[in-house]
Amino acid sequence: MNATIEKEIERRRTFAIISHPDAGKTTLTEKFLLYGGAINLAGSVKGKATARHAVSDWMEIEKERGISVTSSVLQFEYDDFCINILDTPGHQDFSEDTYRTLMAADSAVMVIDASKGVEAQTRKLFKVCGMRGIPIFTFINKLDRDANDTFELLDDIEKELGIETCPVNWPIGSGKSFRGVYDRERSLVITYSDTEKGTKEGISHEISTDDPDELKSVIGDQAYEKLFDEIDLLDGAAAEFDLSKVQRGELTPVFFGSALTNFGVEFFLQHFLKMTTAPLARKSDIGVIDPVEHEFSAFVFKIQANMNKAHRDRVAFMRICSGKYDAADEVRHVQGNRVMRLSQPQQIMADERKILKEAYAGDIIGVFDPGVFSIGDTICVPKENFRYEGIPTFAPEHFARVRQIDTMKRKQFIKGIEQIAQEGAIQIFQEFNTGMEEIIVGVVGVLQFDVLKYRLENEYNVEILLENLPYEHIRWIENENIDVAKIVGTSDMKKIRDLKGNPLLLFINSWSVKMVLERNEGLILSEFGKDRLTNGKNA
Ligand code: G4P
Repeated sequence: MNATIEKEIERRRTFAIISHPDAGKTTLTEKFLLYGGAINLAGSVKGKATARHAVSDWMEIEKERGISVTSSVLQFEYDDFCINILDTPGHQDFSEDTYRTLMAADSAVMVIDASKGVEAQTRKLFKVCGMRGIPIFTFINKLDRDANDTFELLDDIEKELGIETCPVNWPIGSGKSFRGVYDRERSLVITYSDTEKGTKEGISHEISTDDPDELKSVIGDQAYEKLFDEIDLLDGAAAEFDLSKVQRGELTPVFFGSALTNFGVEFFLQHFLKMTTAPLARKSDIGVIDPVEHEFSAFVFKIQANMNKAHRDRVAFMRICSGKYDAADEVRHVQGNRVMRLSQPQQIMADERKILKEAYAGDIIGVFDPGVFSIGDTICVPKENFRYEGIPTFAPEHFARVRQIDTMKRKQFIKGIEQIAQEGAIQIFQEFNTGMEEIIVGVVGVLQFDVLKYRLENEYNVEILLENLPYEHIRWIENENIDVAKIVGTSDMKKIRDLKGNPLLLFINSWSVKMVLERNEGLILSEFGKDRLTNGKNA
């Protein structure tokens, strides 16, 4: 591989930021961008609503509700690194896209509110990171507000998420008595000053622990005693820092700071960039594909329709996994069995789209999709022909029966709902023994029901009625050639199938899943529909 390409790939860092809404993900991202010079300060201190919308919103529904449904990608340079941040929707009604975005990242940054600890959405997203074994970095935010006990916060992460923690720095107080952080590696204290708010160059002092008098005069006697008691305890109890464990996703380095006042953000960024990985190798049906050794290849992780209302377009987002992409070259779309040139390759940055000529492993590109791509598809150089391991189908958690109001519009209804399902925004199922007259829609976040209704009305001119169903748990049946009629169920279980005919079971209660397994010896149920998307229509 040519040295320039190798260098470009090695300096790329592609990560997703995950958090429960309001923990401070947007604020932290904005501060990162500030260091990279990608946005100017004026842009970031505008009302949050404007700043946010400028970053990722595209659909009317988002504007109406003032929330962000889709994920966007931001690229910026910092200290000779080229950083790609994959933003994930910040609302609790997030969708499968959020999960899929994690498939495109090489590591994840988890933002936790210091007064709340691990919250529901973090837990869900974390599960997906765990499944991939990617490195996870924790930023405990909002130390300028009263925080939970630091040991309790760490305990919470370890217990709730089942990952070891290793604090890189340690907070001194919180809220009004927040004095700064102790840097464990350098044994010094970095003092907190609110003057850093909103500025890039804020002033923070570093005081060595060799100078106890100065330290005491700045942080106070009491905070001094407490800090050293805690550090003693920590040195005895916390996991040792082990980079290989971090890179396997078994140990999370923990940082404390305050994104709003820009304290601890650059410290985090610098350490994070040192500890995280360059683009990772990925599994395919011809073995592991090395990002540097191999020529261009990518996979589609997200498809978004109608980003631009005037053009009714569809954009397929691809994560480049190896080599260099050159817009002048032809590529093979493996699942479509075609050699083609990607149409209007672009970098989707904020609400701007920049046509690009080249990109490297680690980068995300969006290409115009005339309806040929599906999620999970592989793109590679024409002389090659391999498939990346598929993206799992994530279990929907909300279900509704869908009916069209005007039965004359049957065709548009089916076409619309199938297209939206193909993009991966919703999953559609049928009753086991009926045709398309009864459609059951499953979604990961309930907002997707509104998106479905809105899009069917606006794009396909079809009005629908949604009747919520009480099911919350879905399981794919993994046994081959099973006679579904013979499965002994429970009163709250429903047998359904997906569009490819795969049988599934829906349950209202989680304990029913256990009971059905007990009642049917040999039955294998799974929570993720592995590879189903890639084995779909194009396979
Ligand atoms: P999210 O993307 O994770 O949903 O969170 P976001 O950054 O939007 O932050 C949620 C709220 O928390 C915002 O306040 C934000 O200003 C505040 N915040 C973020 N980081 C910190 C921090 O380090 N300290 C403190 N004290 N607050 C923080 P808001 O009132 O909802 O919005 P705004 O009017 O302040 O913009």
